[in-house]
Amino acid sequence: MKINPLPLLLCFTTLINALEIDIQDKKSICSASSQVYRGMMDYYDGDNYGGVVGMFQPPYYWWQAGHAWGGVIDYWYYCGKNESVEQVLYDSLMAQTGKNFDYIPQNQSTTEGNDDQGFWGIFVMSAAERNFTPPHEDSDVPDWLSMSQAVYNTMWERWDTEHCGGGLRWQIFEWNSGYDYKNTVSTACLFQMAARLARFTRNDSYVETAETVYQWLIDSEFIVEEETTRVYDGSEIGDGNCSNIVRLEWTYNFGLMVSGAAYIYNYTESDEWFARVSHLVNGASVFFDDGILYERACQGPDNCNNDQRSFKAVFSRSLAMASVLVPALYDDIRPLLESSAEAAAKSCSGGSDGVTCGLDWTTGEWDGKYGLGEQMSALEIFNSLVAPLSPAPFSQEDEGVAVGNPNAGIDSDSTDLAHQKLNITGRDKAGAAIITALIMLSIIIGAIWMVL
Ligand SMILES: *[C@@H]1O[C@H](CO)[C@@H](O)[C@H](O)[C@H]1NC(C)=O
Ligand SMILES: *[C@@H]1O[C@H](CO)[C@@H](O)[C@H](O)[C@H]1NC(C)=O
Ligand SMILES: *[C@@H]1O[C@H](CO)[C@@H](O)[C@H](O)[C@H]1NC(C)=O
Ligand SMILES: *[C@@H]1O[C@H](CO)[C@@H](O)[C@H](O)[C@H]1NC(C)=O
Ligand SMILES: *[C@@H]1O[C@H](CO)[C@@H](O)[C@H](O)[C@H]1NC(C)=O
Repeated sequence: MKINPLPLLLCFTTLINALEIDIQDKKSICSASSQVYRGMMDYYDGDNYGGVVGMFQPPYYWWQAGHAWGGVIDYWYYCGKNESVEQVLYDSLMAQTGKNFDYIPQNQSTTEGNDDQGFWGIFVMSAAERNFTPPHEDSDVPDWLSMSQAVYNTMWERWDTEHCGGGLRWQIFEWNSGYDYKNTVSTACLFQMAARLARFTRNDSYVETAETVYQWLIDSEFIVEEETTRVYDGSEIGDGNCSNIVRLEWTYNFGLMVSGAAYIYNYTESDEWFARVSHLVNGASVFFDDGILYERACQGPDNCNNDQRSFKAVFSRSLAMASVLVPALYDDIRPLLESSAEAAAKSCSGGSDGVTCGLDWTTGEWDGKYGLGEQMSALEIFNSLVAPLSPAPFSQEDEGVAVGNPNAGIDSDSTDLAHQKLNITGRDKAGAAIITALIMLSIIIGAIWMVL
């Protein structure tokens, strides 16, 4: 039986210690990470009776699993390639890829958004870049790179020039509310995939896509590029020009942009991309309170939902990746990661295990909050410290072995779900619509708070 950590919290709080980390010592960091990972797996569903491999327990959505595993695969890679962790990752990659190997599995097809597919795409891309255990050779399963390309190809096919001159809608399917919202996160996931495929395959066609996507984000003013670049949330399509920008700044949107730009720079070595990454890195300062990372848009009003509580994870991963791929910016970035990791460790001092992580890292102690997002964020800020000690993501030019298939996902004989007439019941549609309506509502409430 799984024990819910909540009821046990209070009685044990006097017995416990915070996670101790020495930020100069890899062993100490990896040992802290393994404890945080263990806490994260309390929410894992795949080894429960009736649970789904690759998924975390409700209320955590499918996308968050893809996002979580993206951090776990880095932990696996940086901290000694633990075999039990490897097995969980492998099983999850295989269980959720779907029959077209593009991370639109049947179970998710009524609710999946572009960003949801994007986060699983980012995870499988990491598998390619780390030479992660390939799918068994005797199966007809394509390699991790092909799956990444299938995600990219299906997302790029949805690039919508009919409204607002480009961009990706938040949702893939019309019946989901949020379909009329174009947002940075979906578009930035595509940007990230293009950037990493460019660097991995050395195919400039992906650079062109990345340029197009970046330019659209600038033109639509979802991103305002200055000495310190700002990254906003998105806009309703409205009259067709997406001019009603929601100026919320989330760490994960920012993270996807800064690491994507870093990948492109690392591959192209162009001055223009160097300037873009630097301006983004300068802009990161809005997410730090006295050197400590925080989710300003919701930690301020103290209304972070389950999704938002995990955003710092992708930000930490991304900023670390920028410091690896753009060594000239390492000294600017590193101190922010170190001070945030030390603060995060102090917040990992709650719960019955004494090492449950909190949401707010600025207080020097556990803030009483806990959940998958809190564990993910702590894991990834710890990862960020050890990232420079392992080889950078591989490419086909060095040790990357995946061969890929540039037409994956859009081969004539594959049946792309997004283009198929789906047999979906009214009840599924209603359920999906309610979920997205709730998410929209929380965005609007957040926006109102920002204005006040
Ligand atoms: C799809 O959902 C059902 C019901 O929750 C579950 O039994 C099944 O394992 C899921 N399949 C996949 C591939 O996730
Ligand atoms: C690998 O990870 C599992 C799960 O966290 C842990 O129980 C095990 O001790 C680890 N193995 C090694 C060799 O560190
Ligand atoms: C968008 O359309 C509205 C209404 O047609 C117009 O007032 C506004 O100036 C347009 N904005 C941009 C940026 O084109
Ligand atoms: C790309 O990243 C690698 C790995 O960190 C680094 O050695 C190399 O200098 C980077 N390239 C550029 C142009 O900064
Ligand atoms: C490069 O990528 C594009 C876009 O996916 C693809 O059409 C083309 O075939 C690729 N070229 C090579 C040589 O793989």
